[in-house]
Amino acid sequence: MKRFHLGWFTPFGTTAWDDPLSASEEPWDGQFYVEMAKSLERACFDLIMLEDSLSISDVHGGSMDAYLRHGLMAPKNDPAPLAALIGASTKHLGIVSTLSTLAYPPFMLARLASTLDHISHGRFGWNIVTSATEATAHNFGLKHLPPRQERYDMADEYVALVKQLFESWEPDAVVRDHATHTYADARRVRPVNFEGKYFSCVGPLNTVRCPQGRPAFLQAGGSPRGRRFAATHADCIVAFAGGPAGMKEYRNDVRARAAAAGRDPDQIKVLFLVAPILGPTMDAAREREEREYSTDSFVEAALALFGSLTDIDLSKYDLDSELPHLTTNGEQGALDTFGQWGSGKTLRQLAKESGTSSSVRLVGTPESVADEMGAIMEDVGGDGFLIITPLMRISRRYLGEVTEGLVPALQRRGLVREAYTKSTLRETLLEF
Ligand SMILES: Cc1cc2nc3c(=O)[nH]c(=O)nc-3n(C[C@H](O)[C@H](O)[C@H](O)COP(=O)(O)O)c2cc1C
Repeated sequence: MKRFHLGWFTPFGTTAWDDPLSASEEPWDGQFYVEMAKSLERACFDLIMLEDSLSISDVHGGSMDAYLRHGLMAPKNDPAPLAALIGASTKHLGIVSTLSTLAYPPFMLARLASTLDHISHGRFGWNIVTSATEATAHNFGLKHLPPRQERYDMADEYVALVKQLFESWEPDAVVRDHATHTYADARRVRPVNFEGKYFSCVGPLNTVRCPQGRPAFLQAGGSPRGRRFAATHADCIVAFAGGPAGMKEYRNDVRARAAAAGRDPDQIKVLFLVAPILGPTMDAAREREEREYSTDSFVEAALALFGSLTDIDLSKYDLDSELPHLTTNGEQGALDTFGQWGSGKTLRQLAKESGTSSSVRLVGTPESVADEMGAIMEDVGGDGFLIITPLMRISRRYLGEVTEGLVPALQRRGLVREAYTKSTLRETLLEF
C-alpha cells in the first residue's frame, strides 16, 4: 500500500486554556506553537498549516459574545511571523501560512511569501484564501464581501500576477562576481508590467528568487468554482468532506478538474481534515467523545464556529428539528458537509457529528484508528490527512496522543513517513 501524508491545521490562537489537564500559559509569544512544530517534526509530519481569519465574528446570535467567551476563532495572532519563528526552529517540517488575497496587495504577498521561503530554506507554503465573511470585508474598506464567483475571478488574476513576480528573478540572477563587483545581473531581473482587470503591478520583486522558485500552493475550494480554482493552482488541496464517500467524490472531482486544466493529477495531494478522538481502550475513547464533544457548551461552540465560517446565524434554528437546506456566499463546502442535507438529522445531531470538523468519525485506540485510517485511504485512493483538534483547541496532551500514540501506530503499519529525505516542501509532498 502506498504511504499517505500527514499535516496539522491550527490557528495561532488560544490553546485548550480551560482543560484541567493542560498548561494554562498564554500562547501569544508563539513558543507553544514552536514546540508543537518540533513535536510534529519528530513525528515526521509533512507540514503544519496555520489557519487565519481577519475579523472577530458576530454572526452567532448577532454578537461577538460566543466567540470571545469560548475563545473561538478569536483572539488570534498573525500567522506569518509565527511561520518565520517555526522556520528558524525546525529543519524539515513544511510551514504553511494562510494569507488572504483580500487583505494583501499582490506585491506584498509575493514579497512576504518569498521571504518566508528563504527563512525556511524552501519549506514554505501559501494557503490561498479569498476570505469569505462579511466582517472581514468590512475590515478592508469594503461595504460587502464580493460574490464568490468574483472573489475567485480576482484570485485567479492575483495568482497569475504573484507567479510572475516570483519568476521575475531568473534562477541565476545572483552572480556574486568579485572580479566585476557584481552582486546581481540586471539582465536577469525583469519587470512584470502586469495590467489586469483587478490588479496592476510593474515589478520586479525586490527579493532574490526563493528556494522553491515559488512557495508550495495550498487551497481548499469547496464550491464548484472553488474546486476549479484549487485544481488549477494548488500543489496540495485540503478539504473537509463528509465520510469516505464524500472524500472519494471530492478527490475524484478535483483530480478530474486538474486533468481538464491540463495538469497531472498525481502532482496534487489531497489531504482530508480529521479530528481523531483517542483513548487507551475503545470504551474510554467513546466515553471521552460523549463527555467532551456532546455537551451543551460544545454544541453552542460548534454552531458558533460553523456560523462564523458560513456567515449564517445557526442560533436561529431549532436544535431539535431538521436544518433546512441553506446556501451561503461564505464557506459553502463547510456548510454542505456540516448540513448533511437530506439525512433527516436534527441540528443538535449535526453539531455533535460535524462540530469536531472531522471528515470521518475516528474514535478508538491508536491501533484501531490507525487501521481505520489505512482502510479509508485504501478506499479513497489517497493522499493523506490534515489533523485538527475539535474546535481548534490544542493542548500538549492531544498533540502527544497523536504524535506519540497514533503516528507510531501508523508507522508500524508502513502507512506514513518515518524519515525526511527531501529538502523542500514541494518535494516532500511529491515524494510518494
Ligand atoms: C481545511 C480547510 C482549511 C481552510 N483554511 C482557511 C483559512 O485559514 N482561512 C480562511 O479564510 N479560509 C479557510 N478555508 C476556507 C476555504 O478557503 C474555502 O473558502 C472553503 O473551503 C469554501 O470553499 P468555497 O470558497 O469554494 O465556497 C479553509 C477550508 C478548509 C476545508
